[in-house]
Amino acid sequence: MTTSLRQGVAAIILAAGRGERAGTHGAGPKQYRFAGGRTVLARTVDTFLSHASVGRVVLVIHRDDRTLCEAALGDLFGQVAVVEGGATRQASTLEGLRALAGSAPDSVLIHDAARPFVDEATIDRVIESIRPDRGAVAALPVSDTLKRAGASGQIEATVDRAALWSAQTPQGFPYAAILAAHQQAAATGRHDFTDDAAIAEAAGLAVALVEGSPDNFKITWPHDLARADLMLSSRIAFPDVRTGNGYDVHAFEPGNRVMLCGVEIPHSQRLCGHSDADVGLHALTDALLATCGAGDIGTHFPPSDPRWKGAASRIFVAHAAAIVRERGGRIANADVTLICEAPKVAPHRTAMVAAMADMLGIAAERVSVKATTNERLGFVGRGEGIAAIATATVVYPGALPE
Ligand code: CTP
Ligand code: MG
Repeated sequence: MTTSLRQGVAAIILAAGRGERAGTHGAGPKQYRFAGGRTVLARTVDTFLSHASVGRVVLVIHRDDRTLCEAALGDLFGQVAVVEGGATRQASTLEGLRALAGSAPDSVLIHDAARPFVDEATIDRVIESIRPDRGAVAALPVSDTLKRAGASGQIEATVDRAALWSAQTPQGFPYAAILAAHQQAAATGRHDFTDDAAIAEAAGLAVALVEGSPDNFKITWPHDLARADLMLSSRIAFPDVRTGNGYDVHAFEPGNRVMLCGVEIPHSQRLCGHSDADVGLHALTDALLATCGAGDIGTHFPPSDPRWKGAASRIFVAHAAAIVRERGGRIANADVTLICEAPKVAPHRTAMVAAMADMLGIAAERVSVKATTNERLGFVGRGEGIAAIATATVVYPGALPE
């Protein structure tokens, strides 16, 4: 390999996808989610910026994600050239390649932002295998036995895996050749290439396979994010688990139904309040906000604001859950205790748990609703109102500070 190729290496990081399979959970596409206390994107970008052989980094993002991107990268934002991507991975890559045309590098690495565990050695192996007339991709030999399924879902054949590899990124190419290959693919109206090696192959450019890494998996499904977090968090002695509590009271007034924990219950009175007066969900909103010092329900939904008149309190819970998730928090459980003499809560408990699980985006087994009377003591005992207390546990990224 010529020295000039090695010196003129640029990297394109593809981050313009919507991450639909992994889901956004109110915190943006997967590349903006947290794993081990840092966003996936920052981890990926940092690896390329700190690689000694990579001169420039072009980051391809979706036009709607600029604010998310700046927040995710912090200090690193100023060190990358940001361009807007296209509707497909292929189109996004072409935008990245075009952004380099002004001062073309000798070779270019193309990498998925959704592979945050790419390591320096894999990048080295790819760079070292690029030739003026050849690209190189990180890949792993297939280790599972492969089956071809027939229409009925039964095995039709066992496929010989001896010559099969699964392709990862980075994929590296001589710059001019891969740009020409991409332009040719776009010009012929083909937009279905899922990686750049396939585009190079279609254009007749040779591509070498170099050893990738099993850790260099692509975050695709929700469990991949959990796996990424686990890989990084297993090194952490004390995870950052936080508990918040909330308390609320609403008085009764004449009416015929109450909202409790997201469920409407016919009753001889109603609860008085600016919103739907769902005392359980108000306590829960405060408990969630308390886990990240984000104030209380009144900070976010002042009773003086006419927008919240008659509002469904599930909005408050969903908003608090989104704030928690923006900070990388994962809700571990939520528990609400309703304190009232009437109505009877037990017949509605399953529906309440289901409603809360839905608004929090967690499994029903992580949600609990309990009820107790006040033994006829005090204002609750006299049937003047309902009180609620709530507890939420949220696991935040990274370790408990020293
Ligand atoms: N990508 C991109 N532009 C697109 C589509 C994908 O830059 N129009 C990027 C993604 O951000 C990701 C990489 O290409 O880093 C691999 O794509 P994939 O895993 O399919 O990500 P998404 O398209 O975001 O996810 P999904 O297909 O589940 O929506
Ligand atoms: Mg995709």
